[in-house]
Amino acid sequence: MAFHDTSMIDPFGRAISYLRVSVTDRCDFRCTYCMAEDMAFLPKRDLLSLEELDRLCTVFIEKGVRKLRLTGGEPLVRKNIMHLVRELSRHLKSGALEELTLTTNGSQLSRFAQELADCGVKRINVSLDTLDADKFHAITRWGNLSKVMEGIDAAQAAGLKIKLNAVALKGFNDAELPEMLRWAHGRGMDLTVIETMPLGEIDVDRTDQYLPLSLLRADLERQFTLTDIPYKTGGPARYVEVAETGGRLGFITPMTHNFCESCNRVRLTCTGTLYMCLGQEDAADLRAPLRASEGNELLSGAIDEAIGRKPKGHDFIIDRRTKRPAVSRHMSVTGG
Ligand code: GTP
Ligand code: 5AD
Ligand code: SF4
Repeated sequence: MAFHDTSMIDPFGRAISYLRVSVTDRCDFRCTYCMAEDMAFLPKRDLLSLEELDRLCTVFIEKGVRKLRLTGGEPLVRKNIMHLVRELSRHLKSGALEELTLTTNGSQLSRFAQELADCGVKRINVSLDTLDADKFHAITRWGNLSKVMEGIDAAQAAGLKIKLNAVALKGFNDAELPEMLRWAHGRGMDLTVIETMPLGEIDVDRTDQYLPLSLLRADLERQFTLTDIPYKTGGPARYVEVAETGGRLGFITPMTHNFCESCNRVRLTCTGTLYMCLGQEDAADLRAPLRASEGNELLSGAIDEAIGRKPKGHDFIIDRRTKRPAVSRHMSVTGG
């Protein structure tokens, strides 16, 4: 049977082929744009086991998911996470899955990079907002830049391709982005810049941080020649090639240019809740149907029902008048 026979198609005709799985809501950093310093996390007893996560992912793969990304919080702080990666890698071997990857803050990469590569992971995304150790500590509150750099070194030594994610923050890293671009491209890494999104209450005012990427792009174009290219990874970034460095730069613009019309993804949390859109509250519980029977029919039906109400998109607003975030949950619940 061809895998797309069972494709999940939403009400707007979009095929769902990309599953993002947040394996833990915990993180060893506290990035100021992502979390409050004092965060309440889920009690451990509410987590799905790794076996349950595997079973859920496998059902999604049988239903047409071709790309699977583990996220967090920080996915590599979940106990025994490599067990799940190793199990999921069987779907790469069988050809059912095209890509198994993760988005990480890099803090644990020096321990896990080689094992990830051995499991068939080819490409990972590492969040890095600055190359300055003091600023890094300020933005992550708890992070150590040299540890992340060791992680990046280990990942490259293991042959993993890296895309760096930098959230563009006004007055924090905007002036530094040309240097980050040269550094990333000099080491053969792509770089993607992201507009900050209003998810969850944080301790700072997002209006002070928000930088529309149209402004950043205009600024970069004073130094660099940027050419739009059709390169796609299955994520929301739009890429340009930078003539001066020969590397790729991606723009993720949830605020200024909505990419929802081509949305191909849904997100599963570590408690088995499925969010059909990053910017909406609606969700479906998959834990109950997962646990209700050993067969997957109930689960499969619950997934179809959820995809059948995937919303058209999100409407994020960041301005002085809009004090409340678009959704109350933090990015660390769904991993972006
Ligand atoms: P690639 O496979 O490299 O394209 O990855 P990706 O961009 O899909 O994933 P990554 O985890 O690196 O996410 C980068 C940023 O894109 C994060 O800030 C995510 O929150 C954001 N992002 C991913 N998917 C969506 C989406 O559907 N909507 C919105 N608004 N943001 C998204
Ligand atoms: N807006 C935009 N990006 C965010 N991230 C975390 N919180 C936010 C936010 N509020 C980024 C992280 C990571 C990715 C998964 O999401 O930096 O790169
Ligand atoms: Fe942790 Fe990533 Fe959130 Fe930073 S952005 S606190 S590294 S989950």
